[in-house]
Amino acid sequence: MVGKSSSKVKYICDHCGGIASKWAGQCAQCGEWNSFTEMVTQDRRSLHGLKAEPVGRIKPSVLGDVSLDTVARSASGLFELDRVLGGGLVPGSAILLGGDPGIGKSTLALQCIGHLQHAQRVLYVSGEESLQQIAMRAQRLGIGGADIHVLGENEVQLITRHALDIGAQFLVADSIQTLFHAEVPSGPGSVAQVRECASALVSFAKQTGCTVLLIGHVTKEGGIAGPKVLEHLVDTVLYFEGDHSSRFRLIRAFKNRYGTVNEMGVFAMTEDGLREVSNPSSMFLSQDREAAPGSVVFALQEATRPLLVEVQALVDNSSVGHPRRVCVGFDPQRLGMLLAVLHRHLEVPVVERDVFVNVAGGIRLSETAADLAVATALYASAVNRSFPANTVCFGEVGLSGEIRPVPWGESRIHEAASLGFVCAVIPARNTVKNLPIGFEPVPIASLAALGNWMETRSQVDG
Ligand code: TYD
Ligand code: MG
Repeated sequence: MVGKSSSKVKYICDHCGGIASKWAGQCAQCGEWNSFTEMVTQDRRSLHGLKAEPVGRIKPSVLGDVSLDTVARSASGLFELDRVLGGGLVPGSAILLGGDPGIGKSTLALQCIGHLQHAQRVLYVSGEESLQQIAMRAQRLGIGGADIHVLGENEVQLITRHALDIGAQFLVADSIQTLFHAEVPSGPGSVAQVRECASALVSFAKQTGCTVLLIGHVTKEGGIAGPKVLEHLVDTVLYFEGDHSSRFRLIRAFKNRYGTVNEMGVFAMTEDGLREVSNPSSMFLSQDREAAPGSVVFALQEATRPLLVEVQALVDNSSVGHPRRVCVGFDPQRLGMLLAVLHRHLEVPVVERDVFVNVAGGIRLSETAADLAVATALYASAVNRSFPANTVCFGEVGLSGEIRPVPWGESRIHEAASLGFVCAVIPARNTVKNLPIGFEPVPIASLAALGNWMETRSQVDG
C-alpha cells in the first residue's frame, strides 16, 4: 500500500484521469485495475513555476457592463485557421491541436509562428525534433527565423520559466505528450503527466496573456492521447485531419470558447508547406467529371461553409461467401441502415453483394444530409444507371424510405450553381426561396420518387 498520508499526495488514474485521495486497486470511475499513480500536488502557482501574486477580491459584475473590447484577436497568417478559431488567436487562450502523426501539425504551427514573429514574441518548444531539424524545416517553408525563439526542452516548469523570461506572447508546445513535470513521478506521456503539463501551460496562458498552442497526438481510437480532461482544460480543441494519400487537409473545431464549432478550414499540402484552399469545391471535384454509375456529387455544409464532394459507390457480386461492406469517409453503421432501406423500399439487390463506398478527397462525411447522396450512389451502381453529371444532391433518409429536410438548403444550392451545376435532387420539404437563375430543383419525398426520377431521366438521356 502506498503510505503517505499527507494531504498533498493524491492518486491519479492513468486510464481515465480520475483523481482519488486514497490509493485503491481499482479506479472507482472507470473500473480499471492497478491504474493509480501517486501525484504530488502543491500550491498551483508554485507548481507551475510562476511567481505567486495575491489574488484581489473579485466582486460579481453585471453581464451587460462587461467590456467586450478586451478580446483583440491577432491573425495567425492563415485565414483558414483564423476562420476555424472564430476570427483569429485570442490572447491568453489555450488551443489544443490534435491529429495523426505526419498529418502536418508541426508544419502548421511553424507557418503560424513564421507569420506571428513580426508582431509578437514567439516561442516554439519541441520535445520531438532537434533544433536543427526545426531550422531545416523552417528553411524549407521559407520562414526566416530572426525573431523566432526555439527551445528543445521537455520539462514544463523550465519551459514556462523561459517563456516568461523572453515575454512570450505565442507559445507552441510540440507535443504535449513529450513534456513532463519534474514533480510528477510517472513517465512522459502518462495521463498524470499530460494532464499536469497541460494544466501548467494553460495556467501560464491565463496568467500572462500568452496564447498557447498545444499539439497532441491522436490515438488509434481517434481521440487525443491523454485524459478527456485535457479537452476540458483548454479553450479550443482543433483536429487536423485528412487522408494520408490525399494532399488535402481539413482543420475543424470541436470545442471553441471563442467561436462556433464545426467550422472547417481547408489546406492543400505542397512541397513548400500548407497552402490555403479558399475555394475547396473546385479542388475536390475533378474538372472533367462525366456521369458514371455510382458517382454522385453531394453538397455538404459545415457550419457556414458549403463544399461539394464526390461520393462513389460500387455494388458488385461477391466472390466470397461473406459479402464485404467497406466505407471510406462514411459511417459503416449508417451504410448498413441505408442498404436495408434501399433493399426494403426500392428492392435494390444488395444482399450477398459486396458494397464499397468512397468519399473522394479524403473527406469524412458526418452530416446526415449525406444519406441521400450515398443512397443514390448505391442505387445507381446496383442498377447500373448514371446520375447526371450536372446534378448535386443532399437530404436525410429515414427508415421508412422518406427523405427528410436538412438545414442550409439554399446555401448548398448556390454553391452548386456557382460551380456550374444546374440541378439538385433535394428533400421535398426543403423550400428554396432564392433559386439561382436557370437552376432546377428536383424535390423528392421518398426513395421511390428518386427511383422514378432516375428511371425517367435515363429514358430521356438514352
Ligand atoms: P509534420 O508537420 O511533421 O506532421 P506532424 O507534426 O503532424 O507529425 O509533417 C509531416 C511530413 O510532411 C513532414 O516530413 C513534412 C511534410 N509536409 C510537406 O512536405 N508539406 C506540407 O504542406 C506538410 C503539412 C507536411
Ligand atoms: Mg510534429
